[in-house]
Amino acid sequence: MARKIIIDTDPGQDDAVAILLALASPEDFEVLGIVAVAGNVTLAQNARNALKVVELSGRKDIAVYAGCERPMRRTLVTAEHVHGETGLDGPDLPLPKLKLEEQHGIDYLIETLLAHEEKTVTLACLGPLTNVAMAMVKEPRIIPRIQEIVLMGGGYFEMGNITPAAEFNIYVDPDAADVVMRSGVPITMVPLDVTHMMQSTKPRLERIRGLGNKAGAAVYDMLSFSERFDLKKYESEGAPLHDPCVMAYMLKPDLFQGRHINVEIETGSELTVGMTVADYWGVTNRPKNVNFLRSGNADGFYALLTERLARLP
Ligand code: BDR
Ligand code: CA
Repeated sequence: MARKIIIDTDPGQDDAVAILLALASPEDFEVLGIVAVAGNVTLAQNARNALKVVELSGRKDIAVYAGCERPMRRTLVTAEHVHGETGLDGPDLPLPKLKLEEQHGIDYLIETLLAHEEKTVTLACLGPLTNVAMAMVKEPRIIPRIQEIVLMGGGYFEMGNITPAAEFNIYVDPDAADVVMRSGVPITMVPLDVTHMMQSTKPRLERIRGLGNKAGAAVYDMLSFSERFDLKKYESEGAPLHDPCVMAYMLKPDLFQGRHINVEIETGSELTVGMTVADYWGVTNRPKNVNFLRSGNADGFYALLTERLARLP
């Protein structure tokens, strides 16, 4: 049976690829809805980008909501330096004809989760965790309804990408991440340790372009744009590919390896705020709250991604 998911996202080229991967896999995912959050760029722009991606996928039945326009307690930090002014620079996608739903994303999350049985809906989180944490604070009865939260965020062995200590999604709203980590919901964390292994090398991108469909061309253009920043930064043959790993983990968990450990979020220190303090070696007695992925099979991941993108228009 297809797994029911809600995608919480700040698209972002890599978010866009993750959304396409999910929408190309209807036998595996029943996508209940998409909720945009402020992160890579502003909420309004992220929501518009989500609509563009849904249109590109041809799945016009998918509803898109806008959630929070800023983190719980802090000023929004964005990443135009990586994703471009629109957040989705690269392909020339038409302005969306689809419209945003009127309901606030937080209320959509609450209403949808309360309408489902316990542990039946998975949240696939690709951006800062503001919407999810705010929904948990507003209506704690949603917590037992969540089957699992699979999130891209954090890093331990790889450390940070926006500061030396912190990964972007967690750094933008560490208070929200802290609420989620303490919620008791089963969490799988897909950190930089994994996503940095999934390098979008030229041959891998060429295979996606070679699919000859609109989605393949758009993904090629998106990743060719966003990778220029990382190629220079890391001097590698390909850039990390983050958010699609969330969907790939749910589709093929055997592609990834990890451990069930304690992860806590630094919310106080100015120097290391947003750090995911991962007790990978079990040196504390703190409760295990996260399935922390440490590595993944890049060839298997790109084979899966390419095969699924081939199904789209
Ligand atoms: C994360 O930050 C964003 O820029 C990406 O979309 C990804 O979710 C990687 O740190
Ligand atoms: Ca993202």
